[in-house]
Amino acid sequence: MNTLAALVIIAVAVLLIIGIKLLSSPKTARIGNLVAAAGMLVGLAALHKPDGAYVWSQGWNLNYTLIAAGLLVGLVLGALGAYSVKMTAMPQMVALFNGLGGSAAALVGGLEFLRSSGAAADPGLFVLLAMLFATLIGSLSFSGSIIAYLKLQGKFEKPHTFCGQNILNGLMLALILGLCGWLALDPSGTGAPVLLMVLALLALCFGVAMVLPIGGADMPVVISLLNSFTGLAVAADGFVIDNLAMIVAGTLVGSSGTLLTLLMCKAMNRPVANVLFGAFGSGGSAAAAGLAGLDGKTVKPVQVDEAALLLSYAQQVVIVPGYGMAVAQAQHQVQELSEELGRRGVGVRFAIHPVAGRMPGHMNVLLAEANVPYDQLSEMEAINPAMERVDVCLVIGANDVVNPAAREEKSSPIYGMPIIDADRAKTVIVMKRSMAAGFAGIENHLFYKDNTRMLFGDAKASLTALIAQIKQG
Ligand code: TAP
Repeated sequence: MNTLAALVIIAVAVLLIIGIKLLSSPKTARIGNLVAAAGMLVGLAALHKPDGAYVWSQGWNLNYTLIAAGLLVGLVLGALGAYSVKMTAMPQMVALFNGLGGSAAALVGGLEFLRSSGAAADPGLFVLLAMLFATLIGSLSFSGSIIAYLKLQGKFEKPHTFCGQNILNGLMLALILGLCGWLALDPSGTGAPVLLMVLALLALCFGVAMVLPIGGADMPVVISLLNSFTGLAVAADGFVIDNLAMIVAGTLVGSSGTLLTLLMCKAMNRPVANVLFGAFGSGGSAAAAGLAGLDGKTVKPVQVDEAALLLSYAQQVVIVPGYGMAVAQAQHQVQELSEELGRRGVGVRFAIHPVAGRMPGHMNVLLAEANVPYDQLSEMEAINPAMERVDVCLVIGANDVVNPAAREEKSSPIYGMPIIDADRAKTVIVMKRSMAAGFAGIENHLFYKDNTRMLFGDAKASLTALIAQIKQG
């Protein structure tokens, strides 16, 4: 490798790492995306042909034309997708893009295998395994992501399980591994191309079988896992076509995807295995729909005028948004309420739980869309110690992330999950439509506490009425 190529690889690595770092805050995420994309562009400069010559060192040729055409098509499709996608449909878009990445990685691995099986030079066992790994994992990631996309689109949300599923999956996995072993030992056999197709087909089926049994609401975790798979397949391709930039980019995507998966599972206090095999969110035990629940205790409904009074006379208000705010698309009303209260001298903060909603950063994205200033947002760990001094905690469509059972009840399925301590505020107003349970399908003790009032109704409609009442008062 010459010095220039080495510098290009270092530049790619630095740009990608800085990009990922910037993505960790809503303030810098946009620029982070651009920095990482610039890293990918610089990575193109490190492309070289199998004979070792760099693509860019040979003047304008077919490779250049193909790269330019690919860039153009990608830019147009990416821009169209980005401008047309709704904020709430972002996880689907990520799944789709991830699926495309997986299929590209599988195609590179598979085609390189076919090319090398007919060539005279032996690529060596390590490279052969990398080709098979990329074909296998890339195909699995492609079909798994498409199923995740369809689930998030609401095509079939419930987990699909059937008797003997694990045995079938086990058989499929054994067959896949057997084929990989066979192809690695005899890559130039006459049947190798057909066997490779069978391997890719089985991997596609395995991706479908892996994601079908998982509950629709667990899809963000699954997508993040599939994202890390795609990264690993790309890194394997990097070894195959001897491209260090791809190894660096693939490894970074693989490791960050794995870390994000683990962080989400930690924030939900559920092991990854429980997400993959637990069929969580399949409906389970929905809470009672009446007003009497937990040992006959009843909840205390509140009307809009009383809630408006409580909020207007408070000094400190904390708003806890959750999935219901996303469903109601009430982020603009939330922002308007916060502004109106601010005008009246009420201190308003937003408490953001790491897994509120259905995707990482779901609440941050919605509130940013409604122009809520970033400095009004507080993370769970930062706000919890101050909750006892809060006059009113307004819970908008959040349920599990404020359920004190996670703190108090050892037998609860969410026991140990960190929560926002809404119940410690002087008064809590919970906005939701009914007494239905949240994602975890369990009763919420918060609703029955003495300091809690329930404001029933669609969050958007209730907030609109609340704002009008406060303005009048
Ligand atoms: P949830 O516990 O799912 O509760 C949402 C609540 O919103 C429901 O109780 C529902 O009650 C209410 N709601 C729905 N539509 C509404 C509307 N139009 N107006 C008002 N309220 C409405 O939400 P959460 O507290 O945000 O917790 C998130 C859950 O998802 C956690 O269990 C978490 O582990 C899980 N999860 C999150 C992620 C990520 S990365 N965020 C990934 C996978 C799983 P009604 O039907 O009575 O209105």
